[in-house]
Amino acid sequence: MRRDAVMRSAAGSAGLPCNDCLVGGHLCPKCLCYTGSKSVDLMPQFLSQVPPTLDLPSYTLARIRKGQGRLLVLTAALHQAGYALRPAPRVLIARVGQRSAARRSGLSRNTVAALARGVGTIYSYVTLVDKFGVHPRIVRRPRFSACFSSENQTWTTPLDLIGQILRAARRKRFDLDPCSPRHDGPVPARIRWTKDEDGLKHFWAGLVFCNPPYGRLLSRWLAYCALQAAHGAVVIALVPARPDTKAWHWHIVGKAVVIMLRGRLRFGGGQGSAPFPSALVVWGNPHLAEKIARHVPGSWHIPIP
Ligand SMILES: C[S@@+](CC[C@H](N)C(=O)[O-])C[C@H]1O[C@@H](n2cnc3c(N)ncnc32)[C@H](O)[C@@H]1O
Repeated sequence: MRRDAVMRSAAGSAGLPCNDCLVGGHLCPKCLCYTGSKSVDLMPQFLSQVPPTLDLPSYTLARIRKGQGRLLVLTAALHQAGYALRPAPRVLIARVGQRSAARRSGLSRNTVAALARGVGTIYSYVTLVDKFGVHPRIVRRPRFSACFSSENQTWTTPLDLIGQILRAARRKRFDLDPCSPRHDGPVPARIRWTKDEDGLKHFWAGLVFCNPPYGRLLSRWLAYCALQAAHGAVVIALVPARPDTKAWHWHIVGKAVVIMLRGRLRFGGGQGSAPFPSALVVWGNPHLAEKIARHVPGSWHIPIP
């Protein structure tokens, strides 16, 4: 009842008497609606920012447009469409503390705790930010994060890192780059395969440099690196350092030397530094791996046990 009343008011009667009980003011004592309160103003303003292109069933979208529905559903759809909610409830609540957030907003501790976990309702979120005098906004996520998500897989290896590896190997170029953006791609290599040729469909030979697409197929690329090294290639891969993942445990641990890189790489085609740590993984030549670690400043290597 209480929420319905708020939503009725949110639909456009800010500051006006409540339609049901005709009591204006901040908290209608009869039906407990918030007629005239700030959240009444904020909700339509917030809802008007919901992009029309969200990938949601129409009835879910309709509920969201009425200010009903779950925050998690909205934030997940926004994330997928390249948008984000500001302020993020987790950030706001962490800044002020759950107890104080509950006291100031009038929401229960459980509701605030739910919002801090990213769940709860859209209504509670708007009520919370309203009480802190903040305008909730739906913003485009910075290009940076899109660039490093699996949606965009075209960033390229920093040239200074390529130079250090080639110097360690005493080579001018690699024999193969199996995942190149173009046939004249940025990695110096005798042979370059692009998506059209599909580097995962060929045998690899010689000194191979592989900076694979970091999407869902990354683990397939790691498996293929390990397989081709078992058939005689020396494979150097540049990958996100995620030693806790299954892919690392299956295809790297005990099979390859890992060189952990210091700091965050600035990939070509990206803006700023990567949001994840990176590692070079070397299959098929532990001696070369040690040399590379010596040529890459600040790196440290984990030999095959
Ligand atoms: C992270 S980029 C690396 C580019 C380059 N190798 C470098 O290190 O600078 C990954 C590249 O792999 C290409 N790619 C994606 N799938 C591929 C496939 N199946 N076979 C070959 N290349 C592929 C993408 O087009 C993208 O340009």
